[in-house]
Amino acid sequence: MKQPVVSILMGSDSDWPTLEAASKTLKDFGVAHEVRVLSAHRSPAPLRRYLTQASRRGIKVFIAGAGGAAHLGGVVAAHTTRPVIAVPIETKSLKGLDSLLSMVQMPSGVPVATVAIGHAANAALLAVQILSIHDGALQRKLLAYKRQLTAKNMNADRSLQAQLRGRL
Ligand code: RP5
Repeated sequence: MKQPVVSILMGSDSDWPTLEAASKTLKDFGVAHEVRVLSAHRSPAPLRRYLTQASRRGIKVFIAGAGGAAHLGGVVAAHTTRPVIAVPIETKSLKGLDSLLSMVQMPSGVPVATVAIGHAANAALLAVQILSIHDGALQRKLLAYKRQLTAKNMNADRSLQAQLRGRL
């Protein structure tokens, strides 16, 4: 088993259905990672203990998903010099706007990179991009991924042009 280099944290196991996309994306890129439920509010002491060990064990990037008063990303950032990427979880009451604003409005000196509400795969892609700076194999995988995105988009364009031919 490879040493995990990305840590996916979430405030509750109810966040896992969203965060699973981050795990899947990291797996697709062959990036070893670990997944933990640790809450800024409900388990602050275990979270703090985990964070003091994690970098020493080789974690290079943190992904933190939380919903509502979503302080997890900020608390992680307070305890590490590693990059922290936050995923605002969509909520029932405020559709995730609460999570987004809690995560994105960090004070100066303590940045957290926040992706769009529910976009856990993007958090993983950003983590892969950070790791790829010193990893040629990951860079090549990212280039191949981007080529796929382009091909998919161009296919969609071709198909729409075919549907619209003579109708505009
Ligand atoms: C947050 O509270 C979690 O990140 C979760 O999104 C939200 C609700 O948690 P549960 O009540 O579903 O455990 O800390």
